[in-house]
Amino acid sequence: MPSDDLTITDNRTGQTYTIPIKDGAIRAIDLRQIKTAEDDFGLLSYDPSFENTASCRSAITFIDGDKGILRYRGYPIEELAEKSSYLEVAYLLVNGELPRKKELEEWTYNVAHHTLVHENIRKFMDGFHHDAHPMGMLLTGIAALSTFYPDAKNVTEPDERRMQIYRTIGKIPTLAAFAYRHRLGMYYVYPDDDLSYAGNFLNMLFKMGEIKYKPNRVIERALDVLFILHADHEQNCSTNAMRSIASSNVDPYSAMAGAIGALSGPLHGGANQAALTMLAQIGSKDKVWDFVKRVKQGEERIMGFGHRVYKNYDPRAKIIRRIAEEVFETTGRNPLIDIAVELEHIALQDDYFVERKLYPNVDFYSGIIYQAIGFSVDMYPVLFAIPRTSGWLAQWDEMMRDSATRIARPRQIYDGEPARPYMPIGKRRSS
Ligand code: CMC
Repeated sequence: MPSDDLTITDNRTGQTYTIPIKDGAIRAIDLRQIKTAEDDFGLLSYDPSFENTASCRSAITFIDGDKGILRYRGYPIEELAEKSSYLEVAYLLVNGELPRKKELEEWTYNVAHHTLVHENIRKFMDGFHHDAHPMGMLLTGIAALSTFYPDAKNVTEPDERRMQIYRTIGKIPTLAAFAYRHRLGMYYVYPDDDLSYAGNFLNMLFKMGEIKYKPNRVIERALDVLFILHADHEQNCSTNAMRSIASSNVDPYSAMAGAIGALSGPLHGGANQAALTMLAQIGSKDKVWDFVKRVKQGEERIMGFGHRVYKNYDPRAKIIRRIAEEVFETTGRNPLIDIAVELEHIALQDDYFVERKLYPNVDFYSGIIYQAIGFSVDMYPVLFAIPRTSGWLAQWDEMMRDSATRIARPRQIYDGEPARPYMPIGKRRSS
């Protein structure tokens, strides 16, 4: 009769242990009873990149990486991208259900009423160097919010958490737009609550002399769909950073500054910038073969390709490729798409990529759209951070409500020197 447990025989001692299995996992702490002697610390699991370690229970996002499935709260990403708006999806992530009409109106009102930032934030944005990376400016702006909202440290209070969720989702486009315009040396544009979330963001970025900014409908919708696609992705590097930092009960702004830092790396949210740069460097379709050869020799990586979880086509990349064509009808075709399509075509037929199950991920095509809309390359990670805010906050709120949450504190395997006597400076040998 099968039972939901695991029998382990420790060949060092001949001892046998029975460990329960729940939801396809064992609890790592159950391994600690496996000892070679009374004073032995007990068995640890070693997993430096969390490759096979569940760090939490979560009901927010489901991914089946082998089948290329992504769902938020049970809803397929394809349906949300087609039928929903980003603010609806943000509500879904945070609250667990799609909003009814009145709930969406309230949610939209609350987010829109927190889009303004204190004037001192605007002033310190001015202090950045003219070519400061906007992601660094965004990170700093978010961290600074913790000093403007000291009540945010009451993280165990659900109402306080809710207030910070409104504030952060409301303010992040404003900070991002300020960072963008600072680089251009242009005056800052304040939020326009009449516009949609994406429309207002476009207004704060691109408004010039006109009295009322009118977003292009195709671009506004494309940006909103891109926001939906980037809103959450379960326990990725930056979400793990958010949860890990917030587990010390620090305020969410400080935790989110850490998450933005993690997202900015080229292996994570910085990959869209890196992918665009790579496509531009390849330069033309006839150079793709040569580039692929260099990748296979280990000299390069295809940025925007491969994923820790997806071993199939990233469903987000499929949708983005479709949106790209829609955007080009308005903006004109970005020639880099032809290089990208050729690169994908060659790679997906090549044994190197097939064996390693490397497919385009969310970052492969997104930069091509951002460039067509008119964003500078260094804004791409920022465009990832804006929508991911709702995911980070939903994960944070879920974590704070979870009775299993304790401060994140991994173990290590110490492989340094054993205890040794202190060496006076005159007797030290050169290292
Ligand atoms: N181009 C060429 N080879 C690759 C690539 C790539 N983009 N990605 C992985 N490989 C190879 C890698 O060299 C290794 O080969 P081998 O087994 O011969 O050493 C094998 O595939 C496994 O790679 P890995 O680095 O061990 O895989 P990982 O799960 O640790 O890394 C990844 C995942 C996303 C960091 C990696 O695929 C990568 O660097 N991709 C490019 C950067 C990128 O697009 N990042 C965005 C990820 S999606 C957005 C997000 O969620 O942040």
